[in-house]
Amino acid sequence: GVSELLQLLFEKHHLSLSSYEKILRERTKEEEELARSLARECTEKHYGRGVYTRGLIEFTNFCKNNCHYCGIQRDNGEVERYRLSKEEILSCCEEGYRLGFRTFVMQGGEDPYFTDERIVDIVSAIRKAYPDCAITLSIGEKSGESYEKYFKAGVNRYLLRHETADEAHYQYLHPKELSWKKRMRCLKELKEIGFQVGCGFMVGSPGQTVKTLAKDLYFIQEFQPDMCGIGPFIPQHATKFAKEKAGSLGETLFLLALLRLIKPNLLLPATTALGTIDEHGRELGILSGANVLMPNLSPKEVRKKYLLYDNKICTGDESAQCKADLEKKMKAIGAELLVDRGDARKEKESE
Ligand code: 5AD
Repeated sequence: GVSELLQLLFEKHHLSLSSYEKILRERTKEEEELARSLARECTEKHYGRGVYTRGLIEFTNFCKNNCHYCGIQRDNGEVERYRLSKEEILSCCEEGYRLGFRTFVMQGGEDPYFTDERIVDIVSAIRKAYPDCAITLSIGEKSGESYEKYFKAGVNRYLLRHETADEAHYQYLHPKELSWKKRMRCLKELKEIGFQVGCGFMVGSPGQTVKTLAKDLYFIQEFQPDMCGIGPFIPQHATKFAKEKAGSLGETLFLLALLRLIKPNLLLPATTALGTIDEHGRELGILSGANVLMPNLSPKEVRKKYLLYDNKICTGDESAQCKADLEKKMKAIGAELLVDRGDARKEKESE
């Protein structure tokens, strides 16, 4: 039954594609609970009760792509576009460092203004000013040569969600000019270059099925990313998927738990999207196996302009408020925000 498969996953961190399908198709509420408590146990064994934080800097909302789910897609004329200057980015880092962040995540749309030269210039400045911090980039699909330039400039990690491990589903979520094979090639190149790599997907995205989700889990088991970002799909009113329903809290928590069991030392964020669909979403995420939080460090003035989906939280607060709020929420569940780069721990000998 499903309980036995969950127990097996807890011990061996490996299942067949059809076992994942069975778990996803047949699990009961009690089995979801079991997965989440096994996942929490596994997290505590590897990471204790500490939670890593990353300061997220959303530095451009220009994007040349038209992903059907995303609010900042090129053709959304409602979006007021912005770019942060190098100086603005550096002052986000300064504020972030003061608040205790030791990882900065530069995330943006695929914005041609930010040539490799500009990215390298900015990243080098951050690297020089904060030698004790990790730098993460999340700026989409680039050539292997570009990725290499970023790595040489001091970027440690790269986030590129795979979105779905099923090619036909990928094509349903994206316009024709984007390709699943290209996405997979990018992820492979990033890993080969030596980045700590993060992939990930939305829970409850339009067209997602038990079969596509099982493929996501199996993909993660095989690819062995350092990080995996998942959160519920949330419809954005100006997109093709405006009328679709959002992914659920329960399913997202269950998937977080499964991901923890698949890779005990995985860096697994409780995402902003999870905090958006439920007031206590991020705490519940931490209690289900997540161990990372990525609060927003962007200047207050631009936050309302980086809306991938409707009702996004923390768009009105200063960084310090968001941080203090999270600190309180974590304390309430017996977890603690760490001042740390937050690299993945080594896998334990017994595994
Ligand atoms: N709901 C939830 N997540 C979204 N993303 C983009 N649009 C949405 C949405 N409507 C996620 C995608 C992307 C990441 C930056 O945000 O998975 O990779």
